[in-house]
Formats: sequence, structure tokens, C-alpha cells
Amino acid sequence: MSIISKDIQKAISLLENEELVAIPTETVYGLAGNIFSEKAIKNIFSTKKRPFFNPLIVHISTVDDLETIVSEIPKKAKLLAKTFWPGSMTLVLKKRNNIPDIITAGKDTVAVRVPNHATTLALLKQLSFPLAAPSANPFNNISPTKPEHVAHYFKNDIKMVLDGGACKNGIESTIIGFENDEPIIYRLGALALEEIETVIGKVLVKNKKEERPDAPGMLKKHYSPLTTTILTDDILSEIQNNSTKKIGVLTLNTSFKNEKITSEIILSETNNLKEATSKLYDALHQLDHQNLDVILVEKMPDFGLGKSMNDRLQRAAFDN
Ligand code: TXA
Ligand code: MG
Repeated sequence: MSIISKDIQKAISLLENEELVAIPTETVYGLAGNIFSEKAIKNIFSTKKRPFFNPLIVHISTVDDLETIVSEIPKKAKLLAKTFWPGSMTLVLKKRNNIPDIITAGKDTVAVRVPNHATTLALLKQLSFPLAAPSANPFNNISPTKPEHVAHYFKNDIKMVLDGGACKNGIESTIIGFENDEPIIYRLGALALEEIETVIGKVLVKNKKEERPDAPGMLKKHYSPLTTTILTDDILSEIQNNSTKKIGVLTLNTSFKNEKITSEIILSETNNLKEATSKLYDALHQLDHQNLDVILVEKMPDFGLGKSMNDRLQRAAFDN
């Protein structure tokens, strides 16, 4: 029997019993558990094979709940929360003492967001605790944007994926922290940098590909298909370089119409970056399941959501 279900009451009772449920959000599916249940949180780490040094995001249902999680809210953080929540932005702020260390990997800060998905907002409102939820994929794999992606990864490990359809935005939230009250972007994501800057002015981006970065999820190799992946400005030369191989191609808006290509996915025929972002991970999942030797991915334009997509694609292609 499939673990995919729309039964919200079932999700509630599993979560109240310290079990895990995969939940839909507008960014990607999350693997959720009660933040105050040590059993559930340990289970999140072991199910994902995620190292304990990588902290989790806490999901709440309203801006007002923020003060139950964090002890200080800088002015710009409040403005961002009021402007963009519910939505694809995560704030990293000083934590309250009641937030367990296992959630924050021992840091004195905690990551929080209000997701913009009706099903999960309804779920959160009926629970008496917030949900910790990392993306519902094994460590270093591609994040899931459809319930089927989660079931593919975890059908033997969890009891339920709460079905909320395909994720509208399709890439993880943008993470913003504060150093000396000044905002810093730790992870580019579904809320474009330019949109954030229209509200709080110029923001520093510290989105480096380090071994142990500020947002420890930002490792050099991450979000990876199992198939060798190459990110390039010049698909045609890479087709020549890989001409003996079974090639898959992922492009923004143009078909290469090349006979050496086994499989090709176009993200947005109308060159719409929002549409392309929403389809990106599903396209990578599809290509990764076609027994190809190599996936050639066209570099996206370096602005707006194109920047966020390039960040993930560079990590997906690292070291191949
Ligand atoms: O869109 C999203 O953010 C999704 C959905 C499910 O909400 N969640 C998600 O979670 O992408 P995850 O665990 O895959 O990524 C969380 C990122 C990691 O890179 C982690 O290092 C960072 O947030 N993070 C969490 N707490 C932090 C903290 N206190 N300081 C800095 N970075 C933190
Ligand atoms: Mg993740």
C-alpha cells in the first residue's frame, strides 16, 4: 500500500505519537517531527543519514509564534517576517532556551519559517508543537518536490507522506541570518535576493561552498543526482566531449535537437525562471532514473531565481 495519503488526522496522530510524517510545503517536501520529541528528532537524522552537526528548520504557523522560538528579533527580521511569511524565507535568530540543542546542533541560533502551503498550515494549527523539517531526501540527494519523490526515497522508513501535490516553488527557502543586527544570506533559494533587497536594502551573501559553513547544509557537494552531472554554458561542446555516452540534457528554453541526446527536458519554453525553478528538481529526478551515463545541464541566467538554481546546480555537479 502506498504511504502517500491526504489524511490530515492520521498525520496528526502519527506526529503526536512521536513518529515522522513527510509534509508538503511550497518549496520542497519536509521530513517532519515534533521539535520537543528527542525520539522523533533522532529519527529524522537517522532516516536522512544526516550528520548531527547540520541543524534543522523549525516550522510554525504564524508570524506571532516567532517569539515562542527566538529570544531576539532585530527590526529588519520583523519586517522580513511580516512581508514574506507565510513564504519561502527562513530566518536564523537567537534561540530561546526551550529549543532543544539537537535541533540547532548546539548553536545559540535557530532557523524558523512559516511555510506557505494550506495543508501544512492547517496541520501546524492543529498541533500543540512546532515541526522540525529538513528536506525529505537522504543526505546529499536531490530534494523532493512531489509526494512520489519522497515515497521513492523513504517508503520503507516512514509511515506517511501527507499529499499536498507538487511544490509550487520547487527549490528550498532562502536562509537569512543576522550578524550584529545586519542581515546576511546563508543560502540562496526560492525567494529571490532582489525581492529581499527591495524591503531591507543591500544584503551580504555568504553562500559559500565550504566544508563546514555557517549554514552547514551548504556543503560543496549536495543536491546531487546519482548520475554524473555537468553544468555548462556550452551544451554542444559537452555533447561532443561525451559522444560515446548515453546523454541526458536539461535546458532552460531551447531544444538542442541533437541525435546524440537520449533524453532532453526543457524547463520553460517561455523562458520563465519561476516556472523553470518549480520544475528543476523533478527534471533532475526524472533524468536520474533513466540509466543515463551523464546529465548535461545548461547554466541558468545569473540573476533572480536563476542565481538560486545555479547555486544548486553547481553543488549537484561538483566533483563529477
Ligand atoms: O525550504 C526549506 O527550507 C525546506 C522546507 C522543508 O522547509 N527545508 C530545508 O531544510 O531545506 P534542510 O534541513 O534541508 O536545510 C536547512 C538548512 C541547512 O543548510 C542548515 O545548515 C541550515 O538550514 N540551518 C539550520 N539551522 C541553522 C542555524 N542555526 N544557523 C545556520 N544555518 C542553519
Ligand atoms: Mg536539504
